[in-house]
Amino acid sequence: MSLIYNIGRLVGIQPEGVLRLEGPAQGQTGVLENAWLRIKDGRIADYGKMADLVGHDETDAVMPDSDRASIDARGGMVLPGFCDSHTHVVYAGSRDGEFLDKINGLSYEEIAARGGGILNSARHLQQISEEELYNQSISRVREMMAKGTVAMEIKSGYGLSPKAELKILRVIRRIAENVPAAVRSTYLGAHAVGPGYTHEEYVQMVIDLIPEAAELADFVDVFCDEGFFTVEDTDRILTAAKGKLIPKIHANELAVSGGVQVGVKHNALSVDHLERTTDAEIDALKGTETMPTMLPGSSFFLGLPYGRAKDYIKAGLGVALASDYNPGSSPSGDMRFVMAQGCIKMRLTPVEAFNAVTLNSAYAMGLSREYGSITVGKKAALILTEPGWDLTKLAYQYQTPFIREIIL
Ligand code: NIG
Ligand code: FE
Repeated sequence: MSLIYNIGRLVGIQPEGVLRLEGPAQGQTGVLENAWLRIKDGRIADYGKMADLVGHDETDAVMPDSDRASIDARGGMVLPGFCDSHTHVVYAGSRDGEFLDKINGLSYEEIAARGGGILNSARHLQQISEEELYNQSISRVREMMAKGTVAMEIKSGYGLSPKAELKILRVIRRIAENVPAAVRSTYLGAHAVGPGYTHEEYVQMVIDLIPEAAELADFVDVFCDEGFFTVEDTDRILTAAKGKLIPKIHANELAVSGGVQVGVKHNALSVDHLERTTDAEIDALKGTETMPTMLPGSSFFLGLPYGRAKDYIKAGLGVALASDYNPGSSPSGDMRFVMAQGCIKMRLTPVEAFNAVTLNSAYAMGLSREYGSITVGKKAALILTEPGWDLTKLAYQYQTPFIREIIL
């Protein structure tokens, strides 16, 4: 049992059973000022106002010296840790060489067409051992955790052969076993056509590998976009994965791809990217279980349009935001920066952006029963800030260090 007391603002309070926030609800969150929160067995046991704690049975827990497990928050904010539902952090080497090509004006598609991009990362990955891949990747996971991420999804997709895809999925599993953050795993065999295969042969390989991948992964993903995989490929892969892996789809990054509609058809948990969407995509998502997920870090890094998050919310939908941490389109896993971009570039209110990087992103990886809000019974996966912070300042003063302690 431990107690956090003198909390200036306890933010992100939700009643039990709220698994995602849609429409006007995305703009609301529970806040308690001058609060305490008690943790038992790694879970949120209880919380309340400081005024009510005085005179309580365990009042002496308020004295830091009498109970070493208690933390004086000194007026800092306590919020649920960030949930990052879309990353590619298991990769090898770097693509800093392509950074110069990009600066000199080549587009993502042009770099890929020259054999750069995902194929470049796949070459790096073939050359290193599983041990080395684990070491490189876990350092990024630790970096994400230091920035406040407590739950994350990680995709395969830089293997592009059965052997190398399974190598990545094993590395993700090993990461999951070795960090206190929650880790969900996604089989993204269909990320690019592997060398030595025709398009058709490669799609067949991706399908044939599903049973083995399903032993290691929770989800299946397809890069359903212009120049990569078609709606028909996606439909075939998702049909083959039915009952084994839940879909989460890369859609509408490079073009209006049809990826949203095929994702919805297969009851995808999320459709991600959505830099390019028309009203048809918004309509297709209404009344579904699928969480639209936007990745402002890719818009920033590649110079793409930002997703129409505001229009989705106006239409009654919820929106999640994630980092897309990967070497080609978003070399950052900083969810506070993602939240700030949600406000600055997508015109979300700080509360809307906060819900997008916590509860809705937890939903988008099937973790919102355990993570993403201050709710009795959920994991105590929390950020304690320095004194004087609130959600608006978090997004506004987006480069100033704010974390005092991560409780995980
Ligand atoms: O989400 N769009 C596809 N996959 C990644 C980028 C992969 C890469 O370039 O390495 C993304 O942006
Ligand atoms: Fe991605």
